Amino acid sequence: MQIHGNDGSLLADPNGPVYYNGMYHLFYQYNPHGALWDVGNLSWGHSVSGDLVNWAALGNALDPTAPFDANGCASGSVTILPDGQPVILYSGIDAERRQVQNIALPKNPRDPLLREWTKPSYNPVVPLPADVSADNFRDPTTAWLGRDGLWRFAISAVATGVGTTLVYRSADFLRWERNAAPLHASRDAVMAECPDLFPVAARGAEGLDTSARGPGVRHVLKVSMPDTLQDYYTVGRYDDEADTFTPDEDVARGGGDDDYRSWRRIDHGHLYASKTFFDARKNRRVLWAWVNESDSEADDVARGWSGLQSFPRALWLDPAGRQLLQWPVEEIETLRRGRAALLGAEVESGGLREIGGIAGSQADVDVVFEIPSLERAEGLDGNRLLDADALCGEKGASVQGGVGPFGLLVMASGDDLREHTAVFFRVFRLLHGEYTVLMCTDLTRSSTKAGVYRPTHGGFVDVDIEKDRSISLRTLIDHSIVESFGGGGRTCMTARVYPEHAATSSSHLYVFNNGSDAVRVPKLEAWELAPASVNVVPEQEEEEEEEEDGLAASSNMCTSSVY
Ligand code: FRU
Repeated sequence: MQIHGNDGSLLADPNGPVYYNGMYHLFYQYNPHGALWDVGNLSWGHSVSGDLVNWAALGNALDPTAPFDANGCASGSVTILPDGQPVILYSGIDAERRQVQNIALPKNPRDPLLREWTKPSYNPVVPLPADVSADNFRDPTTAWLGRDGLWRFAISAVATGVGTTLVYRSADFLRWERNAAPLHASRDAVMAECPDLFPVAARGAEGLDTSARGPGVRHVLKVSMPDTLQDYYTVGRYDDEADTFTPDEDVARGGGDDDYRSWRRIDHGHLYASKTFFDARKNRRVLWAWVNESDSEADDVARGWSGLQSFPRALWLDPAGRQLLQWPVEEIETLRRGRAALLGAEVESGGLREIGGIAGSQADVDVVFEIPSLERAEGLDGNRLLDADALCGEKGASVQGGVGPFGLLVMASGDDLREHTAVFFRVFRLLHGEYTVLMCTDLTRSSTKAGVYRPTHGGFVDVDIEKDRSISLRTLIDHSIVESFGGGGRTCMTARVYPEHAATSSSHLYVFNNGSDAVRVPKLEAWELAPASVNVVPEQEEEEEEEEDGLAASSNMCTSSVY
């Protein structure tokens, strides 16, 4: 049900997600002229939805047509001002290839679809600062309002050679001043991208407006690291007077609190440039992210499009306050159709059980595994905790273990499982006697097609398995994407799969156990997911777009280049 460009186009970062006047709006980095990323063509695509499931595509909200964004309209956000007016804040790459910050306003604020946007000629509202490198100043967050009545936004920059997240303040959203102290800086990282600073309730799953503050409010800082294409976050304390953020000590693991790579991962698989928004309709915070392709660029061009958005996920703080819990928004469940179930089953060592009766290529699976005994858990040296991907590579689904591997085989070919993707858990005992749970998505047998990237994704699940003796897994399968949520959404893992069998035959779903003891499955439910209606272009809009495309083709002043 993911949104993707469907007309020779690339879709990347989610931009400016917002709930406005009864509609959800999602803008996104979009190259309308080709399936590959091309900075000079970067526009803001725009889709709207009443339910976060079914989407209609509108014309582009922003195109690179002004001197202050002539070389691309990069990522940004939408903020709703107190009078109800939405404002886009985005990074333009200007005619001199400098990254600058611009605003755009709805042409007709009474249009509930916010179809057209005006870029005032007084842009940029924030020019490139003298100490910031020209190609490292981008991705402004949704703004929040401080106690002093000033707006703030955060933005990624390399300032005097250091990767930082800066804060700007403004009384009128037009004139912005940089706070001398950065929100956060990392000596170890060069440029982070797509920062997100948002409040979470210390207790409960309700989301908070981005400007929320006061007792019971904690904050999360998230950044995207381009060197690894991974999103990291940490829970911490945002000082709303100094405009600085300090990670909680107890979550600063490994490399110290200023090294993003020691922070927690939003997702341990193939997912990047995530962005959240506060959904006032259901009082929740929702995250979107870009899920890139992992086959070749030639495949992208042949297919004519590339890039998906993840399923929207609600997120909140876990009761211990250390990490986020992420869960597909409840609206996804409206797509559930035929149901298959296993109740009170036992999957013996070496067991493989098909979950029949539903089409496995578009499915939602929710399962709980119970572990009768931890006695045979394999030993693990503590330093192996640092590289879960490699551990999953060594101890793949077919490598017999003690407690696990057990889990699901999805997108499996019906013949002899020649193609399948395994999502599973494996429990280890550490030297001091405590247990740890590894979660993996093993793509090594996901496709027989030559040249497809088939990694193993891994992450540890922060649960007390000795006490719980059970662990849950929810996996959403939508053809080429498999999104898994382990331990109630503590560890999330998104994978791209390109099995050859899917073109000609159906995909199957199994539960398996390759551990030496049986595991119990007190409950497994699986549903087929009906296709959502995605990016259907309204008829009238389509005609207008064709006309606009003609114009754009003849007046396109953009050249393609990297930053
Ligand atoms: C992240 C990113 C952003 C930038 C955008 C350009 O994927 O590099 O930093 O604004 O993509 O498409």
